[in-house]
Amino acid sequence: IPSELVDSFGRIHDYLRISVTDRCNLRCVYCMPEDGMEFEPDEKILSFQEITEVVRVLAEMGVKKVRLTGGEPLVRKGMEDLISGISAIPGIEDIALTTNGIFLARKAAKLKAAGLNRVNISLDTLKADRFSFITRGGHVERVLDSIAACQQEGIDPIKLNVVLMKGINDDEIEDFLRLTIDSQLQVRFIEYMPIGHNDMRWKQSYLSLSTVLERCQQMGWKVEESHAERGNGPAQTFRIKGSKGSFGLIHPVSDHFCETCNRLRLTADGNIKPCLYWSDEFNVRKCIGDDEAVRELFFKALRIKPRNHEMAKALVDESQSHIPTVRRMSQIGG
Ligand code: GTP
Ligand code: 5AD
Ligand code: SF4
Repeated sequence: IPSELVDSFGRIHDYLRISVTDRCNLRCVYCMPEDGMEFEPDEKILSFQEITEVVRVLAEMGVKKVRLTGGEPLVRKGMEDLISGISAIPGIEDIALTTNGIFLARKAAKLKAAGLNRVNISLDTLKADRFSFITRGGHVERVLDSIAACQQEGIDPIKLNVVLMKGINDDEIEDFLRLTIDSQLQVRFIEYMPIGHNDMRWKQSYLSLSTVLERCQQMGWKVEESHAERGNGPAQTFRIKGSKGSFGLIHPVSDHFCETCNRLRLTADGNIKPCLYWSDEFNVRKCIGDDEAVRELFFKALRIKPRNHEMAKALVDESQSHIPTVRRMSQIGG
């Protein structure tokens, strides 16, 4: 059956990103304010059963890939139950998790057994003191242990998400690239996005990803584009010739990938977000149980999905018909 989740620009949506909680056990500088934030009360958060219901309806409409995000998804108890529920839905071919990796080492085996296909782990630095600074108190060894545990479990691919920040971790590009030479990891450099807040920090720390390819050139590394691993997320993938792993570039700001956007989002409190960047939201909760109403609401969201985000202009342009979201990344899940 052809997918019915088409927006007004003809983009077909087969990828659903579900934020299962807005809570997190870390407070990364680019994601949450220092004093933390007010979290949604438990009664507003979708239950696993409600989430599974929505996925079931969407799977009939062509969604094949589900990504579970947060906040930090593993702060929610029993994630393996949600995963096994989703993996039993006909049509779902791929279940992935985006996590900060702190709780992952001890959960990797259970999650895999439940049907988790792959993981993306956030890791912006390999240095302990710097990790503690960026995450406001996290321990990098726990993330490294989690990577090892996932390798042990044979979870593949394992992707590491590195948000590049000028003056904070841009001196580690080479170290991260070296990781891909001897291990099967995929390191993905991500451009820092100004999301959800008028961000002085973004202005100070944003760095275009052209820096990464320049670095390879300086090192004399031959780089080839590796289409085989493209996946259907936004990353462009490359490999240093002869290496076991690969690296990806995700450049929403300098060169956006909106033209091929195949993504829909569901927030922890049940809001459909047609685009990460804009404020448009539609709460699906009251529709759950009525498949036709759920379908209609997703169509409605898709009808107004904007062509792109205009993120680079975010801080100067006031003449938009859509309003930039005021949610933090931790409330959307990236
Ligand atoms: P794969 O399926 O493994 O390719 O995952 P992914 O890259 O789609 O997911 P992940 O959660 O690892 O996200 C990596 C980065 O890409 C994060 O910074 C996300 O915010 C960003 N990202 C993912 N999808 C979009 C999108 O549609 N628009 C924008 N602007 N950024 C996105
Ligand atoms: N810009 C780019 N990436 C971000 N992430 C969180 N906030 C931002 C931002 N402002 C990343 C996290 C995680 C992924 C889901 O999004 O590091 O890896
Ligand atoms: Fe899709 Fe919006 Fe992301 Fe562009 S910014 S790729 S339209 S979700």
